[in-house]
Amino acid sequence: MADIGIDLGTGTTVVCHPREGVVHDEPTLLVEWPARRGRELLVGDDAAALLGRTPAGARVGHPLRGGAVTDLSLVRTYLHQLVRQTARGRWRLRRPHAVLSCPVEATPLERRALLESAEEAGLAHVELLAAPLAAALGCGLDLADTRVQAVVDVGAGTAEIAVFCRGVVLTARSCRDAGDEMTAALRAHLRDEHGLHLSAAAADDLKIRTSAAREALVTEGRDVASGRPRVATIEAGETEAAVAPVVARAVTALADCLEDLPVAGVPDLLAGGVVLVGGASAALHLREQLETALGFPVKVPERPRTCVAEGLTLAGGRPELRSRPA
Ligand SMILES: Nc1ncnc2c1ncn2[C@@H]1O[C@H](COP(=O)(O)OP(=O)(O)OP(=O)(O)O)[C@@H](O)[C@H]1O
Ligand SMILES: [Mg+2]
Repeated sequence: MADIGIDLGTGTTVVCHPREGVVHDEPTLLVEWPARRGRELLVGDDAAALLGRTPAGARVGHPLRGGAVTDLSLVRTYLHQLVRQTARGRWRLRRPHAVLSCPVEATPLERRALLESAEEAGLAHVELLAAPLAAALGCGLDLADTRVQAVVDVGAGTAEIAVFCRGVVLTARSCRDAGDEMTAALRAHLRDEHGLHLSAAAADDLKIRTSAAREALVTEGRDVASGRPRVATIEAGETEAAVAPVVARAVTALADCLEDLPVAGVPDLLAGGVVLVGGASAALHLREQLETALGFPVKVPERPRTCVAEGLTLAGGRPELRSRPA
């Protein structure tokens, strides 16, 4: 039976169908909007469009923070709505089988809670696979390979590295210095240096735009002192400098896994390199800094944001992968 892959990330949820490919790639967000009878539930882009515009009585929920579930009932409601919306007219199955991503260092308790929430949300035969292993599958690595492989995933809430052999994790590290922390650092810089207040969503957008820009960019915000709207010019390189301490902390935390790297893994990783995935893999100079700190070549695959979900779908046909300890 076909399984769908759901990469439930702090910032983005990506759903991949075995035949149709990526069918959903939207923010991990739920808005409960007050309606005449009860409440209307909105997820993803529909919910994000209402951020900062909700009336009293509405509830805005981030099901995950820092890669971890904040509130199980919120996750249940979110997944239920997501599955209803995504499956509409697409799957005849009432209860689709699913493989979900989880952090590589998720505890047994966290894994069980996530599994139960997903089943209560209407998914059947739910299995979990650690995001870095799913990413490896999704970008074409062979998990049965006897050589040591390594994947770094820098998303919105967590940065994690998993070093594994034959699909079994040998060593892993994770930290919360990822995309959301970079955005928070940029917001603080704009407030302190430009006297400008930006919403988290606007700062995230500015961070992404500046990571590709080579010249100054103009951004709109609210003057911290007067509260009036104002524009400010952000010079090229300013964002990079503002997020640099976060990038440096992440790189140090990830490189710590070298301590536990088996010595036979060194030639394997020198030859095969380390794969860097996740939305924040595009952060300026992250790849180069990782390469320096780890001492191995670091490469970014073709689809670094969606390879986790694609790998989860592939794991759907290979139950032996999911039952491995991770
Ligand atoms: N070009 C870019 N430059 C820098 N950061 C980027 C860029 N594009 C996306 N990001 C960041 O990537 C993050 C989202 O990545 P991703 O979708 O992999 O996270 P996630 O899977 O939701 O989170 P997690 O895995 O940590 O729970 C956001 O913080 C976003 O700002
Ligand atoms: Mg992720």
